[in-house]
Amino acid sequence: MRLTKITSARLPCLIEMNDQNYSMKTIIIYTSKHGTTEKVAIAIAEKLKETHEVTLCSLNKNAQPDISNFDTVILGTPIYAGQASKKMKVFCQTHESILLQKKTGLFVCGMDPDKNKQEQELSNAYSEALRKQAAATGFLGGAFLFELMNFFERFIIKRIVKTTTSVERIENEAVERFVGKLM
Ligand SMILES: Cc1cc2nc3c(=O)[nH]c(=O)nc-3n(C[C@H](O)[C@H](O)[C@H](O)COP(=O)(O)O)c2cc1C
Repeated sequence: MRLTKITSARLPCLIEMNDQNYSMKTIIIYTSKHGTTEKVAIAIAEKLKETHEVTLCSLNKNAQPDISNFDTVILGTPIYAGQASKKMKVFCQTHESILLQKKTGLFVCGMDPDKNKQEQELSNAYSEALRKQAAATGFLGGAFLFELMNFFERFIIKRIVKTTTSVERIENEAVERFVGKLM
């Protein structure tokens, strides 16, 4: 499937974003539970596709993307209880040696406002070797979407943030900086 603009939050597992071919080939591989990491992945894809051939790939749908044909690999995961998604951790462990040979960007989506905790969450998500080698790393914000949370999640988040009003805090400037390092 080839699309030039994507707005849907329910995507098939593999999408090529461009109609033209560019010399730089980039794949954005992500997981997302409530859709915000996917939204950030799409925003990154929309910016990069002006100069890169971009493919979006969701690990939620059990895709096993072959990254050998891509120059740049971008990985994104949400943070729940301080940790990256299991699927992203397994993907990174399985493909670490080939990822270390690529230009990479590593991002996490989360809502913790504490900069030290954000750094810690990035460290928990991706190995030291991957972080050291990455061209870009970033904590790119997130959202609390109460209407999509299960009972347990609503209970926890309500206790922490003392409200049940949904809020989105995607850090657009951090997204811009992140993309700028991968252009
Ligand atoms: C139960 C629960 C636990 C969470 N724990 C953390 C956390 O430890 N650190 C953090 O930065 N954000 C945390 N968040 C915020 C999520 O990372 C944020 O909602 C993110 O946008 C989710 O991405 P997704 O929509 O792609 O699943 C938590 C959210 C929920 C609902």
